[in-house]
Amino acid sequence: MIGQLLEEIAGIGRDPGTGGYNRFTYDEADTQLREWFADTAGAKGLEVHADRNGNLWAVRGPGPWIATGSHLDSVPNGGAFDGPLGIASAFAALDLMEPTVDVAVVAFAEEEGARFGVPCLGSRLLTGKVDAAQARQLVDHGGTTLAEAMARAGHDPDQIGTDPDWLAGISFFLELHIEQGRGLVDLGAPLGLGESIWPHGRWRLEFPGQADHAGTTRMEDRDDAVVRFARTVLAVSDGLSGSSSRATFGRLQVEPNGTNAIPSRVIAWLDARAQDEGNLAKIIDSLPDGSSVANESFSPAVAFDTTLSDQVSALLGHPPPLPTAAGHDAGVLASHVPTGMIFVRNPTGVSHSPAEWADPDDCQAGVVALAKVLSSL
Ligand code: GLV
Ligand code: MN
Ligand code: MN
Repeated sequence: MIGQLLEEIAGIGRDPGTGGYNRFTYDEADTQLREWFADTAGAKGLEVHADRNGNLWAVRGPGPWIATGSHLDSVPNGGAFDGPLGIASAFAALDLMEPTVDVAVVAFAEEEGARFGVPCLGSRLLTGKVDAAQARQLVDHGGTTLAEAMARAGHDPDQIGTDPDWLAGISFFLELHIEQGRGLVDLGAPLGLGESIWPHGRWRLEFPGQADHAGTTRMEDRDDAVVRFARTVLAVSDGLSGSSSRATFGRLQVEPNGTNAIPSRVIAWLDARAQDEGNLAKIIDSLPDGSSVANESFSPAVAFDTTLSDQVSALLGHPPPLPTAAGHDAGVLASHVPTGMIFVRNPTGVSHSPAEWADPDDCQAGVVALAKVLSSL
């Protein structure tokens, strides 16, 4: 069943060349995935609602609901499991449960922040962790605002923002997710329990330069924005050697972006993560002069609810607890409702890549575990 559900969406947003997925919030692929979500939920007798923030909820019963689910959007050229595994597993788990449990299956919007830059945007808006007016003005790579994209997708952008009434309908939230490292492979365990999430954030850096001719300008006369940027990348990555902290410059914009023009501006996005907020601050403090720095999102450290985790752990025969350096909507919800996570082994240990994988038997073990927990709590 879980295999069939994943198969139904396997072609949506897939790049036939790389095998990776491009599923960006409110784009064509995301729209098809949302239709699949609604059809699948409808076939199981669930009612589908979009909340004020573009998150989709499939609910059974009047609530309060036990909520589970994840997200449908991907990073550029992402894997098949990050997000969709949690949603497909939730639908598959319903088939193993008595229809008397009031459940909600959720697909959070813009978890990756790949289109509008702020990760977990749907859950941040729902919980009031991001300002609605600022969020409406977030732009994608082509200059379309979140407000415009939402309106085109049939959601009213004037309604976005914190929604305590909706949150009050959720008794707890349990997110099942592909593991994004080698923790479970190394332990030889098919499933793990989320324990904590490292603090992390995104910063926008802007490096100035002077546009000039690539042939006629002597090397010593140049002010090259890419050279300034390269010095920063090397300083940060050399500075972190031997440390557990992580820094990634995965997205760049170079101007004017011509082979024979000296770069006049680089905009680079830094994704930084550390075991604690002190070490995260050290990364930002270590940025050499030569750029302007603006924080675009921040996710404080999360410790998942210990009462819920202890109950889930006992029900599942004490799977290994895992801290993670990946961000999740479960982390955003954790300060509002009791929240936990179940991780499914990823034999490649690779994620945010077409190489991400989960064995069908491990996926099924995740479904059975989810059904057991949702039925028992
Ligand atoms: C989400 O996958 C993140 O950690 O960036
Ligand atoms: Mn991800
Ligand atoms: Mn994810």
